[in-house]
Amino acid sequence: MREQLLKLKDEALAAIVNAPDVATIQEMRVRYLGKKSDLSLALGGLGKLPSIEERKAMGALGNELKQAVSAALDDREAVLGEGELEVRLAAERIDVTLPGRPVRRGHLHILNQVINRIEDLFIAMGYEVAETRQVETDWYNFEALNIPKGHPARDAQDSFYMTDDVLLRTHTSNTQIRYMLEVAKGRTPVKIICPGRVFRRDFEDATHSAQFHQVEGLVIDKGINMATLKGTLVEMAHGLFGAGVGIRLRPSYFPFTEPSAEMDISCIFCKGKGCRTCKGSGWIEIGGSGMVHPNVLRHGGYDPEEVSGWAFGYGPERVAMLMYGIEDIRHFTNSDMRFVRQF
Ligand code: PHE
Repeated sequence: MREQLLKLKDEALAAIVNAPDVATIQEMRVRYLGKKSDLSLALGGLGKLPSIEERKAMGALGNELKQAVSAALDDREAVLGEGELEVRLAAERIDVTLPGRPVRRGHLHILNQVINRIEDLFIAMGYEVAETRQVETDWYNFEALNIPKGHPARDAQDSFYMTDDVLLRTHTSNTQIRYMLEVAKGRTPVKIICPGRVFRRDFEDATHSAQFHQVEGLVIDKGINMATLKGTLVEMAHGLFGAGVGIRLRPSYFPFTEPSAEMDISCIFCKGKGCRTCKGSGWIEIGGSGMVHPNVLRHGGYDPEEVSGWAFGYGPERVAMLMYGIEDIRHFTNSDMRFVRQF
């Protein structure tokens, strides 16, 4: 038995010295030391030996050999492992002197940039920024603004209704009433600018979208008149488009203002001479305005005999389109990064 055990040990040691890699060492551990290894099986036959002395001696020898094989496996594994580590380190070397790849930073959407600019202009003139809800009741969106049920002006602002009484607001003018009743509560002066999202049931094309933005302005105080409206609009136009740009107020009709005026800016492309953008007129329409209707003041809790006011509303999309030569309103909402990253 002794010869058989020594032979198994020699075979194992010879193979271990030539093991090519760490994975093979792991296989060999099972093959030479596992429960089904030749060595283990041979030692399993100890019980058949005739004397106790012999069994003891062979058992001790078996353990010694197992330890020798195990030590040889450990030695070979250490040598191979070191080599493999060196190979890996060489292959995975990082050149820390390479310049880094810049992380792309996000930025405000062009529309928010334009709205911020408009807000800044008005904040500089002492205005407060007021925002209110997009889901509104019929009363705040229409009724309180002097547009009773069945009024033909409702047709021009067809909306999305949740119920007969609750709708997505069609303009920012709801903020006029909400601010008067909920914030100002009869106090003067009121000087607010109200940017926000509005909704209309429009078919979408290059200039129409079912959701867009408006910026509403509202001033209420003693002795407010159309001269201060025009002065303020001129100031705004200069701030947005430059000092050479003029404002024209054209008689118009809105149920919530009287008198009412369409507001135009002089064409920023041809400087008023007449071109394709202004259709030869020299003027570009940007929104509506007028003196706040006495009924609207009353609905907001103000006495039209005591105070007067004006309001205006226009679309920042239109302003952005003019400022940056954007030809389609749908670019603002279609999330095409090629558009978004230009500004
Ligand atoms: N709310 C009007 C619209 O959406 C614009 C407007 C606002 C007109 C304030 C006059 C005064 O068309």
